[in-house]
Amino acid sequence: MVSRVIPVDPFELVIFGATGDLARKKILPALWRRFRAGQMPEAARVIGAARSELDTDGWRRMAAEAIGPAQGLEDFLSRLDYVTLDATGDDGWSALRQACGTPAIRAFYFSVAPSLFAPLAERVRAHGLADAGTRVVVEKPFGNDLASARALNAALAAQFAEDQIYRIDHYLGKETVQNLMAVRFGNMLFEPLWNAQYVDHIQITVAETLGVAGRADYYDRAGAMRDMVQNHLMQLLCLIAMEPPARFEPGAVRDEKLKVIRALEPPRWLVRGQYASGAGMDAYGTDVGDAASATETFVALRAEVGNWRWVGTPFYLRTGKRLSARSSEIAVVFKDTPHSIFGIDAGAHRNILAIQLQPNEGMKLWVTIKEPGPGGMRLLDVPLDMTFAETLGPAAEAIPDAYERLIMDVIRGNQTLFMRGDEVEAAWAWTDAAITEWERGGERPELYPAGGDGPRGAERMMARDQRLWRDIAG
Ligand code: BG6
Repeated sequence: MVSRVIPVDPFELVIFGATGDLARKKILPALWRRFRAGQMPEAARVIGAARSELDTDGWRRMAAEAIGPAQGLEDFLSRLDYVTLDATGDDGWSALRQACGTPAIRAFYFSVAPSLFAPLAERVRAHGLADAGTRVVVEKPFGNDLASARALNAALAAQFAEDQIYRIDHYLGKETVQNLMAVRFGNMLFEPLWNAQYVDHIQITVAETLGVAGRADYYDRAGAMRDMVQNHLMQLLCLIAMEPPARFEPGAVRDEKLKVIRALEPPRWLVRGQYASGAGMDAYGTDVGDAASATETFVALRAEVGNWRWVGTPFYLRTGKRLSARSSEIAVVFKDTPHSIFGIDAGAHRNILAIQLQPNEGMKLWVTIKEPGPGGMRLLDVPLDMTFAETLGPAAEAIPDAYERLIMDVIRGNQTLFMRGDEVEAAWAWTDAAITEWERGGERPELYPAGGDGPRGAERMMARDQRLWRDIAG
């Protein structure tokens, strides 16, 4: 298996917020890896812009530090330029204009707080930096609720057409997430069973060991529902639940995802948790410097998609910080066989398709077999294991980071893995309703020890449905 690198057209990428965390941790390393892979053409250039009084050499040094020592790095750094710029004023804009060339493709990456999206979009236009082919990339959080998301969409729409706007949800750039579509729509095996008749329930878990270090301000205003459920978990749910699009094309895929979000019933059950101290780690209240904070760092909920395919099938979603392991998994749990010819002693056995997003990207299909050897017909569940690192060998190591793929998709002009404005608004409408509901109740989140598996309430939710969560550590 050989991965194919198809060079993109010459481009100019302007990164607003060039000295920020995201630029250093994700965007610059991603660009470097694409450069090293030979995907960036000779003429491609990256222009950093931010408020900091830096010069090009200073930004190149910052980039070098972010990327770490590597052969050929100088060549990559020589494509970087820097402009000091005021996003809300006029300073620096003519310098940016001068720094810009006449590339085939120009994209602006708004790696800044959402409050700067509108002023930046206006200035990019006003200073004549954009034409009909220009693209803008915006990061999450895309608003804090439906009203703010609508305002952001309107501000962007005032300057750019929808097909110029790339709203990032980096989960859509993860290899296994795309593989989910390949598995569903590239095989005959699964699709006939992919419905309420054969699927008992679906579990989507995104567990993190990290706390909120360094992002306390943002996180304490957001919480797990806004930070993770509204976007990443919702997108995973869409890809699992959507109808087959007619083509793997932006419009078709996004239409089907939107239908899923619009078909979501309000959560039937919702548990909010907040990590307390545990396993040598501080409590959330200490991490954010507010012992009285009522922000949730964990959410578990039961959702239902109200359509013919899924009626009555629970989708259990769970995400949290400071849990026992970093692990993201989607598990499709099939129903028991309608009748056991092996008698009740054989116990209940189920097929489960477990799609592991990270770490150890891969899939396992649990099937029931006879336990080898004498001793009667004893049944055993074993996984058909397709851990990519083992199955694909060195090709698995070449799996690009989500940002590498997404940035290159922007340059290629492919919006399939980006969220459309109406999708984001629909997701907020659903999330807002749940948030309003708990705010009305005024309950504080249930505490769980850091390094554990989340609050007891999440287990009670499953027990009530006579089901169990899968182990977080897998
Ligand atoms: C981000 C959230 O969008 O996703 C973070 O804001 C979270 O809180 C992160 O830690 C998780 O991403 P990943 O790729 O590490 O699973």
